[in-house]
Amino acid sequence: MRIDVLTIFPEYLAPLRESLVGKAITDSLIGVRVHDLRDFTTDRHRTVDDSPYGGGPGMVMKADVWGAALDSLATPDTILIVPTPAGRPFSQQLAQQLSIAHHLVFACGRYEGIDQRVADEAATRMPVLELSIGDYVLAGGEVAVLVMVEAIARLIPGVLGNPESAVQDSFGAASPGLLEHPSYTRPVNYRGHEVPAVLLSGNHAEIARWRHSQSVERTRERRPDLLPDTEN
Ligand code: ADE
Repeated sequence: MRIDVLTIFPEYLAPLRESLVGKAITDSLIGVRVHDLRDFTTDRHRTVDDSPYGGGPGMVMKADVWGAALDSLATPDTILIVPTPAGRPFSQQLAQQLSIAHHLVFACGRYEGIDQRVADEAATRMPVLELSIGDYVLAGGEVAVLVMVEAIARLIPGVLGNPESAVQDSFGAASPGLLEHPSYTRPVNYRGHEVPAVLLSGNHAEIARWRHSQSVERTRERRPDLLPDTEN
């Protein structure tokens, strides 16, 4: 998979060189390039924004600059992702679908966002997803890109040391729609808190049953919205 990120703050994406995604890059499982949007401006001041038509606070990112940047990156395989709090919710299911894509381009908006015609015009020639990572407003799309790239990259075969980890996750294939059960490691007694005895029993069927019931209980407590109406 190839990933291109367009931003006015390329340094903001430096964490992609670390940890799991960094290793995937080193191992050539993914290729990541970060581009400075200002390189696609044509004026002396490298202007990327202007005041909104119709008035109101803030600035809007200019369509022509974004258009030139996207033209330079688009291929027949490109899926364009625009992080925005006004997008549809990013999810594990979308991460799964995007993990088999050949080319993702992420367009990081700042200020009041990107002129809507950029996404509208791009959608005439490639799939465009305007996506939100949650119901809160960030200063720009960069952190949302870090979140989405990490969620997508760990699902690419070879990226996780043990692919079973992704299956067992909260929202993973083992228990879709359930939060992951709690996990424990040595010592057996931590400041008076014992590891649940069933995990020391060696009875794998019993352990699987216990973990499932913990998942259901946790989900009921923390995320009842994930359960079918009959279970909450
Ligand atoms: N940009 C600003 N806030 C965002 C959010 N919640 N999700 C995605 N992109 C954003």
